[in-house]
Amino acid sequence: MKRSLLTLLCAMTTFGAQAADTHKAAPKGDAARGQAIVATVCVACHGPDGNSPLAANPKLAGQHSEYLLKQMQNFKAVDGKQPERVSPIMNGMIAAYDEGQMRDLAAYFATQTQKGEAAKSGETIALGRKLYRGGDQSKGLPACAACHGPAGAGIPAQYPRIGGQFAEYTEVQLKSFREGTRANDPNKMMRMVAIKMTDAEIKAVADYIAGLH
Ligand code: HEC
Ligand code: HEC
Repeated sequence: MKRSLLTLLCAMTTFGAQAADTHKAAPKGDAARGQAIVATVCVACHGPDGNSPLAANPKLAGQHSEYLLKQMQNFKAVDGKQPERVSPIMNGMIAAYDEGQMRDLAAYFATQTQKGEAAKSGETIALGRKLYRGGDQSKGLPACAACHGPAGAGIPAQYPRIGGQFAEYTEVQLKSFREGTRANDPNKMMRMVAIKMTDAEIKAVADYIAGLH
């Protein structure tokens, strides 16, 4: 079991490295031009610097630009098809922007500093930490830290920052991956993780992650 999981993780890393190479060739965004869009549109939900005031809207400040760009591309419907990541709000919000503007927006949010949340539930912190750092070998659940890093900072370009995020948002995303209503993760990486988690485990790990900086 352990061995097959390791092989899987290695295969994923290779896949990620190839994706990173394609991104490198692409032009970088202009953060100042991105800020101008944020100040008029995105500010309403994500704040002026990507530190969203409400837990329903994820923090974008300090997120890797490659991940931000990918999410915007996934929210955008192409050729009248269903977007890869479904969100009634964001599918509408992103419709007006082209590839260059998305790069500008990604460049702006990536250079902002995240104001992280805090863990709130003392009773579940030990379980959250254990799952985050070590997973659960008895059911083949990998450690979150293996891909998202020990402090939740992620690994650009393939693994997003998750540390300091609102627990409510993290919980919703994990449940969406588990149910398959969010299915834009390369190689089903997150769906295969979330499907092994109970509601209580999701809640515990989401709370722990909020306090990770
Ligand atoms: C009306 C509120 C609202 C506005 C305005 C808005 N967003 Fe969002 N945004 C959301 C919500 C809600 C989500 C979470 C969607 C989900 O649950 O999948 C989100 C998610 C995102 C994500 C994915 C974050 C992640 O961690 O995966 C990105 C990137 C993003 N928004 C960018 C933008 C940009 C750029 C703008 C401005 C052009 C914008 N948003 C405007 C509400 C909003
Ligand atoms: C094999 C690597 C891998 C492992 C292990 C892993 N993740 Fe992920 N995770 C990813 C990738 C890749 C994405 C980005 C998916 C995409 O492109 O939309 C992601 C995305 C996420 C997101 C969405 C972030 C956002 O801003 O919307 C959350 C939340 C998350 N992971 C939590 C976890 C938790 C909690 C664990 C441990 C229980 C975990 N992950 C284990 C690879 C992994």
